[in-house]
Amino acid sequence: MAASCCPSHGRFCLILLLAGAAAVVSSGSGAAALGDGGSSDVKLHVDSSCLTPQEHKHGAATGTRMPIVHQHGPCSPLTDKHGKPPSDEEILAADQRRVDYIHRRVSETTGQARPKRAAPPVQLQPAPLASSAASANLPASSGDALGTGNYVVTIGLGTPEERLTVVFDTGSDTTWVQCQPCVTSCYRQKEPLFTPANSSTYANISCSSSYCSDLDVRGCSGGHCLYRVRYGDGSETVGFYAQDTLTLASDAVKEFRFGCGEQNRGLFGQAAGLMGLGRGKTSLTAQAYGKYSGVFSYCLPATPSGTGFLDLGPGGAPAAANARRTPMLTDKGPTFYYVGLTGIKVDGRALSIPDSVFSAAGAILDSGTVITRLPPKAYAPLRSAFAKAMADLGYKKAAGTSFLDTCYDLTGVQGKALPAVSLAFQGDATLDVDASGILYMVDMSRACLGFAPNNDDTDVAIVGNMQQKTYGVVHDLGKKLVSFAPGAC
Ligand SMILES: *[C@@H]1O[C@H](CO)[C@@H](O)[C@H](O)[C@H]1NC(C)=O
Ligand SMILES: *[C@@H]1O[C@H](CO)[C@@H](O)[C@H](O)[C@H]1NC(C)=O
Repeated sequence: MAASCCPSHGRFCLILLLAGAAAVVSSGSGAAALGDGGSSDVKLHVDSSCLTPQEHKHGAATGTRMPIVHQHGPCSPLTDKHGKPPSDEEILAADQRRVDYIHRRVSETTGQARPKRAAPPVQLQPAPLASSAASANLPASSGDALGTGNYVVTIGLGTPEERLTVVFDTGSDTTWVQCQPCVTSCYRQKEPLFTPANSSTYANISCSSSYCSDLDVRGCSGGHCLYRVRYGDGSETVGFYAQDTLTLASDAVKEFRFGCGEQNRGLFGQAAGLMGLGRGKTSLTAQAYGKYSGVFSYCLPATPSGTGFLDLGPGGAPAAANARRTPMLTDKGPTFYYVGLTGIKVDGRALSIPDSVFSAAGAILDSGTVITRLPPKAYAPLRSAFAKAMADLGYKKAAGTSFLDTCYDLTGVQGKALPAVSLAFQGDATLDVDASGILYMVDMSRACLGFAPNNDDTDVAIVGNMQQKTYGVVHDLGKKLVSFAPGAC
């Protein structure tokens, strides 16, 4: 096996990029902006500054195109010079809590593994909102289910607009921000709290409004509709369901409905809130369906110091020419973007995994889960084929960490190729995982295969954000298609 690469057939050159504590292995093309992508040597690039956003290669810029950055990367408006970024243990633990939450939601809403639970309580107790005593018992550090391994975008809310940096989440529906006066509790955020009293276009939604009935969990206080979203590990947000003008880059969505959070707990990494892009009625996707035809696309950058984009509407979709499409399976359950994962390839060879393994589990595409989760019967063959390919290339094994069990010591590694990993989807779509999505770098002495098994073969598989990096990922609710366009950022 020739050690030279960049570009080699189906393999990637190892170029190591260190950004603060986080390091990623990047492909030659992804790192071209950093220097000579044609060399076969491993490069160690210490990078703690924000890279200038690249010109996007596909799709005309539209009025909604917003930069997406990693929450804890140097480009993030939330980066706190004095704060400590989360450790890898914290990131992986939070990632597992999110996966557990998704599995619970999927089994509750599809009745796949368990009988449907009784409907959630229709009324919230207004008492906790008014009682300041309740806040004393809220554990300030519990729950960072959605805040840790995530990407953020900056939106505008209100008139005049307040700029707020929020977690971008395709795995939930309701958008919310922390709001003044924070009757019970707000966690610490970087930007000033959204102040409804300052906005001339803000309005509360009344309990009798049909919009109030769109909420999964709702309540009523003084005629005003209350919302509550719980993320499964104790993090939650409760407050008034409201509407105001949402500004996305230079475009505006009037009367956008969101939660004005008065009681919020969990560490959302100093973000002002969360933007829900799921399939449910309360999501931005659904609310602005008429305006944006149910289409949004995003690209997650290869490195924490890179910049990707989020775009709404068909105009922002990366060029169709090189996009690979797969059906969006909208009858599998609410909120999530279900797709048909059908196979896995390592170095171009399909692993022998029965179709029934993938069909029994089902799969969703999620922007907020970091590491792709597979049914154990699919993970085991991936792990052994990858380990064999790495052994053939002479990589030295290292101890596992958390739920990552296939790790390598890259100390002193020079100009070596990495095995290629591809995910195959219904409709002959393949996602040839970018090199930045193959190894999760804890540090130089520990780089781990960025995939993990679910506990159970019936748990839904989740295609995580690490494996989506550099692709233009288009979600088209009208055409019921998801597409992947390589090299979009
Ligand atoms: C709201 O308006 C007040 C008074 O003009 C101002 O001091 C405050 O900074 C504004 N709040 C935000 C978050 O913009
Ligand atoms: C929205 O409801 C809250 C709580 O009842 C109230 O304090 C606020 O003034 C209301 N805002 C508007 C614009 O009606």
